[in-house]
Amino acid sequence: EPVQPPDMSMCILATDSQADDEPVNCCPPNYSTTNIIDFQLPSSYEPLNQRKPAHKLSPREIERYKAAIAKMKQLDPKDPWNFMQQATIHCTFCNGAFFQVNYPDKLLQVHGNWLFLPWHRYYLYFWERILGKIIGDPTLAIPYWNWDTKDGMFMPSVYLDDKSSLYNDNRNHDHYKALLDFNYSNEPKPTPNPRPDEYDKVINQNYEKFAQLFTKDVLAKASLFMGQPIVAGEENKTLTENAGAAEILHNLAHEWVGPVAKPNHDMGNFYTAARDTLFFAHHANVDRMWDIYSKKRGSKVEFNQPDFLEASFLFYDENRQLVRCKVSDSLSAEKLGYTYAPEVSPWEGISR
Ligand code: C2O
Repeated sequence: EPVQPPDMSMCILATDSQADDEPVNCCPPNYSTTNIIDFQLPSSYEPLNQRKPAHKLSPREIERYKAAIAKMKQLDPKDPWNFMQQATIHCTFCNGAFFQVNYPDKLLQVHGNWLFLPWHRYYLYFWERILGKIIGDPTLAIPYWNWDTKDGMFMPSVYLDDKSSLYNDNRNHDHYKALLDFNYSNEPKPTPNPRPDEYDKVINQNYEKFAQLFTKDVLAKASLFMGQPIVAGEENKTLTENAGAAEILHNLAHEWVGPVAKPNHDMGNFYTAARDTLFFAHHANVDRMWDIYSKKRGSKVEFNQPDFLEASFLFYDENRQLVRCKVSDSLSAEKLGYTYAPEVSPWEGISR
């Protein structure tokens, strides 16, 4: 039995796992529980919206993106399109704001299992559509944080301008100009930033990690990349035990962006992560990794089982309509109307 969307009228207090399960309110403001429609893939896919590396945007693209987010932040706080409302969606599906329908003691959780990539693909998809709608430009595309290339292994500079709508101060300021080391850890104390004479070494270690996501074994067994199955009535015990390699790698950049102190708001903590616009750039690259993965597999479906394909979620779309979205409609970026600008993957061909 596939995981079903929550009953939106049954929202409960979520918990901050980093702060002794301190209760947090993530509930959406209006429970539009009545009028839910099934999501339909767009009927024409051309031209595809092209997501580009954040460090390669043109000045025009940067201005457009900043303007759209600035407007999103100014919307009525109760508008489902409002920036904080959108950010809070991440909390509801991650910090236990809903029990599963028919399983009143099992929390809904899209992290740490095979729902992780499909759910986040939809989340970004609607966020992008909404931003495009807000500025009346449906070609708007989310930039991605191209951390898998040398030049992209820094926080993209457009996110560091403290005068802009992309800025968020709740980050580790020691990392503003630092190379992102995928062996970083906050514990027991923060790994020091690589010195410039260590860059080549760290870059190569990082490349090695990306190459590990696409070995023959991982390509043959989708659960290694995507995460283990979860079905209705199950609840993950931990967020890492059943997570796939893509999610495990992705967690690190969250920890690296957020401040060190626990609970490390914003990016370093699930319930606040999406309050940082960098979240969406980070997740666009995670989504791109999935896109690369599925193309390397010849677009062969990752799991050909109804428990995966029929699992579904709820999102507000670009018409403020609640839509029920199935995993099966999330499996191709192009079918959703977007694509990733072709970029070289310097980690290709690194020893496995
Ligand atoms: Cu929902 Cu980056 O996690």
